[in-house]
Formats: sequence, structure tokens, C-alpha cells
Amino acid sequence: MSNQYILGIDIGTSGTKTVLFTAGGEPVCAKTVEYPLYQPKNGWAEQEPEDWWNAVREGVSAVIAESGVRNTDIASVGLSGQMHGLVMLDGAGEVLRRSIIWCDQRTAAQCEEMTARIGQKRLIELTANPALTGFTASKILWVQEQEPERYEKCAHILLPKDYIRYKLTGEFATEVSDASGMQLMDVPARTWSGEILDKMHIDRALLAKLYESPEVTGAVHAAAAAETGLAAGAPVVGGAGDNAAAAVGMGVVTAGSAFTSLGSSGVIYAVSDKVAIDPEGRVNSLCASAPGKWTVMSCTQAAGLSLKWFRDNFCQAEIAQAEASGTDSYILLDKLAAAVPIGSEALLYLPYLMGERAPHPDPDCRGVFFGLSAKHGRAQLYRAVLEGVAYSQKECVDVFSEMGVQIGDMLVTGGGGRSALWRQMLADLYGCPIHMVQADEGPALGAAILGAVGAGLYGDLEEACGAVVRRRKVNEPIPENSAAYRGYFELYKSLYRSLRGDFKTLAALGK
Ligand code: XUL
Repeated sequence: MSNQYILGIDIGTSGTKTVLFTAGGEPVCAKTVEYPLYQPKNGWAEQEPEDWWNAVREGVSAVIAESGVRNTDIASVGLSGQMHGLVMLDGAGEVLRRSIIWCDQRTAAQCEEMTARIGQKRLIELTANPALTGFTASKILWVQEQEPERYEKCAHILLPKDYIRYKLTGEFATEVSDASGMQLMDVPARTWSGEILDKMHIDRALLAKLYESPEVTGAVHAAAAAETGLAAGAPVVGGAGDNAAAAVGMGVVTAGSAFTSLGSSGVIYAVSDKVAIDPEGRVNSLCASAPGKWTVMSCTQAAGLSLKWFRDNFCQAEIAQAEASGTDSYILLDKLAAAVPIGSEALLYLPYLMGERAPHPDPDCRGVFFGLSAKHGRAQLYRAVLEGVAYSQKECVDVFSEMGVQIGDMLVTGGGGRSALWRQMLADLYGCPIHMVQADEGPALGAAILGAVGAGLYGDLEEACGAVVRRRKVNEPIPENSAAYRGYFELYKSLYRSLRGDFKTLAALGK
């Protein structure tokens, strides 16, 4: 195994990250290639599948050339990617339209229609979620209704990373962690749902073959080998949706373990031995990348995005100071906030700058500072923003435990995870220690680990994660802090309840 390598490719929204690792998980060489996001109308979001493929070709060729690694020493290729995007191909394998991606919000009417056709209760029983604009099924319905001549020509429906698999191997294949975000599966049974497909008028032949995440789904064909520099015949495993792949990269593969990702949005992903469903749809339930396991996942819209909004609009002094001294402006802001006591001197922030998904699926709610007084300045406001986002994560974790998904082990990742102050807030609010991992390569590492298991370098996912994932730094909860947050957290929760109707009024006024 010593001179074997594994390749992880993550087809993200801003770019594709390709990382070559040793079989032990040490990153050897990485390349990110960016591409545009098209927003032809308010709330629409599309990408060009050809851009993803070009980014993969460029990224893979670059890491092979720059690392000097022989392509025959690459034991496997693992794919990860943005979830839910709709890719449609004709019978010749040509792309029929730009992909309608995960954050596109055009399908509210189609969600209502899906619910009416299938019935809310049955839809949730089968797909583990209420109809969601973000998920793929409502996007398919939209194309059926709005572009029937295109839908006529559709021979294959794929997810973003599975389009790349098709380009690499010629196979139409997917795997359960990503496919369960299409809302076409019987999630408890881990198969396509005939009942959902019938009611949605989707021919099963359009869908890809379903695998478990570490299974081999095909091999790189000669034409793709010539375009990427990979060796023909290299196995390509199922891989996983980006969050499920990130989970593997952090060793979150057994029930009770979870991670919080503080990127632009905030994601909490917890693994469970059984399917746990929230009938109110406050959080999402999917198949996990660990075979035979499921996951509950929450996505809050504006986590790091709240910090960035505050910094960019109100913290020019810190931005200038950081530039002059070669530091990070967020480190300077953290220092200011650390000097403010818990509760930000009686100031609360609701992080709904982009509406909200979890735990309040509500496109109309908006951000709030509550309790502003003349004594408050930038330091209190910034701390309130950090606390507000942390309260929102805690609120999601509480929904998980209401559903019977208990978290005994929590990791943190994403840019926000680098803030010791923010991590401590999470530890104090969750009441459990927070760990980080050494090689924070995120989904690309998880995809590569799934590849290593598929290629037989490790017996199973747990063994692979045990060998590859190294933890570092722990924030322990501080009981006095936990107690001090309690009253503010209760008030934080009641603010949404109090304001829910007012948010609707505000939205109507702003239309
Ligand atoms: C998950 C989700 C996002 C995308 C984009 O449900 O919508 O995390 O996968 O990365």
C-alpha cells in the first residue's frame, strides 16, 4: 500500500477541488478550478455541466503532473459534489440544459403539486422529507411543465458528481447519500420508489443505477484517460454528496457522531442507525455514506455569511488594520468579541439574512438585532452575531434529539471552525466537547477514503477512517458558561415565534 495513492474530486458550487492523497490520507497535491454560477432570474441558480467537466480535466491533469505520481499508482477515484442539482442528458449523452442547482428556489408551486399528488404523509414516509424546493424532484417537475419539448428528449437524469462519473466511465450510476436528496427514493429501503416515480410521471429508465457509497461503479475509459491523465481502468467508486463525503473525511461514520460545518451556511450532520424523520421538515433526513446508516442534517442559511455581512459593512477599520499587519480581520474581530461577556450585554441577533431553512423553513424571515442600546458598539454587535449563529446551531441539535438522534461526539469544520471563540460557544451550548481534524480537506478527503475502501485498501469505512483521520484540538464545555447562555438561548428561541407573523407582513410590504 505504501506507494499507492487515492484521488478525491469534489464538484463544489464555486469550483471543483481535486486532491491527490497517499493511501494513508496525507494530501500530496491539490488543485481548485473555479467556474460561474448563472442567476438568470431572482431565486434561480444554474451551472453548466461542461464547466464541471473542464474543471475536473484540468484539476486531475494538474495534480498528476505536479505530484509526479505515476497514474498507475492511483488505486481509485472518489467523487463528491454539490447535492440535488438536476442534470439532463439526451440519448446521445449530450447535456440538454444548464443544471438547475441546489440553491435554486423556483419550484415552490411544484412542491405544492408534489405534495398534493403523493400526499404529505406518504411523501414523508417514503422520501423522509416534505417536498423541498432545493431537492431534485420538484426541479424535474418544473422542466416537465415549463420545457416539455426538452423533457421529451431526456434519456438520463443525473446529479452533478454522477455526470462526472458518466464522463469518466460511461456509466449511469449514483449512490444513496446523494440520490436520497433527489426525493425519488424510498429512503428507509435505500431503493428508488416506484410509487413516487409513478406519481411524478418519471420513467425509472431515466434514473441511474443505485450503489452504496464505497462500491465500485465503473472504471475510467480510454477517452477519459486521455483527457485527464488517469490510467484507463482505474476504479471509480460511488462517492457521496458533499456533506456525506465531508463526514467520512472527519470520521463521522458511526451512530452518535456528528459534525458542525461553519461555512457560508451552517450544516450539522449526524449519523444514526435508523431513519429518523421530522414530520415538520425542520431538518432533512437522508441515507448516510456509511452503508446501512442514515443521517439527519440541518442547513442554516447564513452562518459565516452573517459574519462576512457584518464585517464588510461595519468593520472597515479592522479590515484595514488586518491588511496592514498581514493578519486575518476575523481574528481581530474575535479579539474584540472575546472581551465582551456572554450575552453580548443583553443583545441578541437572529441570523435570518437569507430567510431560513433549519430549524425554521421560512423564506420570509429576516435578520434581527434585539435589545440594541446606546452602550452597544461593534464589539457587542459582532459577539451577538457569533452567538446568534451558535444559538441557531444549538436549536437544530435540539430538534435532532427530539427526533431521537443523540449526539455523543461532535466535530467542527469550515472556515468558522478556525475561531476558538466560536468553537467554545458551540461546546458551551451543546454541552459536549468539540474536536477538529488534522487534514481538513473536507469532502475531497471523504471521497478519496470511500475510494480507498472500494479499491480494497481498507476492509471497511470504520477501519479506513481509523487509519486516516487524525483529530486535534478540543474545546471542552465550561459549565458556568453553559449556565450563563441558558436564559439568552430561551429568549432567542421565543423571538422567532413572536416575530413569525411580522416577518410575513414585512415580506408583503417589500414586494
Ligand atoms: C445540502 C445542500 C448543500 C449542497 C451544496 O442539502 O443543499 O449543502 O450540497 O453544497
